[in-house]
Amino acid sequence: MKQEMMTIVRQQELAPRIYELVLTGELVNEMTMPGQFLHIRVPRSDLLLRRPISINQYDRAEETCTIIYRVEGDGTSYFAEMSAGEQLDVMGPLGHGFEIDQLNAGDTAFIVGGGIGVPPLYQLSKELKVKGVKVVHFLGFGTQEVVYYADEFQALGETRFSTDDGTFGIQGNVGNLLLAEKRQPNAVFACGNNGLLKTVEQLYSTVDNVQLSLESRMACGMGACYACVCHVPEDENKSVKVCEDGPVFQAGEVIF
Ligand code: FAD
Ligand code: FES
Repeated sequence: MKQEMMTIVRQQELAPRIYELVLTGELVNEMTMPGQFLHIRVPRSDLLLRRPISINQYDRAEETCTIIYRVEGDGTSYFAEMSAGEQLDVMGPLGHGFEIDQLNAGDTAFIVGGGIGVPPLYQLSKELKVKGVKVVHFLGFGTQEVVYYADEFQALGETRFSTDDGTFGIQGNVGNLLLAEKRQPNAVFACGNNGLLKTVEQLYSTVDNVQLSLESRMACGMGACYACVCHVPEDENKSVKVCEDGPVFQAGEVIF
């Protein structure tokens, strides 16, 4: 983990309130595992806590990395006003991301994401494809207007979409997409709200390798403050920290 003033290369609005921000800096050389996150200070003196945002993709040769975020409150609103050449104080890469070592060429991986849980799955899918793993994406959004990276995921492999109102892909949620899927994958990777993660955990209880990326309120982002603690099944005295031990856990490893 490093801390660095990274420079904004470019920023664009992909969809209403959803921004893609490209940063450059030496910290990119530390990025080796998909699913990790950056902890970014908002350059406003009254906002003390950093904001955790997943790494969407990185390019070590170019020393650039990309984040995709949705404007929610003061911090992300501030980020959206920034432009090329300005700097952000970034800590990272943080956390334990997706593990792909167990997968081999010819295996099939299901990649499941919802809404603002989709960004970290892009680097994951790219790395699996390089390994020769067949990737199948199941992506859910609210409505067509807020769909992003559809072409990017389709370029990597088969991609199914759902929207709540049926304006893009099938009507319903990602669970509906998965229920219609009869193939059994070698591994499942998911990032999204707790409902989506629970659905994945239930539907693929017989698959050995199911990795879930949890979202949790964070403060320090590096294991020092206990703001992000989750309990583990069958031992109420034991807990894990989402920022340090996660955000990615094997299904069944934590209660969420
Ligand atoms: P405010 O509501 O003003 O934030 C107030 C405080 O609450 C801040 O400390 C903020 O960090 C915290 N907070 C608010 N919402 C969340 C949330 N959902 N999760 C955690 N903390 C929150 N969002 C994206 O759009 N794209 C991503 O790739 C992404 N990756 C994430 C990865 C991780 C590991 C985590 C934990 C969260 C991620 N989020 C992501 C959620 C993102 O951190 C929040 O939307 C953001 O911090 C909101 O900040 P704000 O100042 O705009 O909102
Ligand atoms: Fe401080 Fe996880 S956010 S321990």
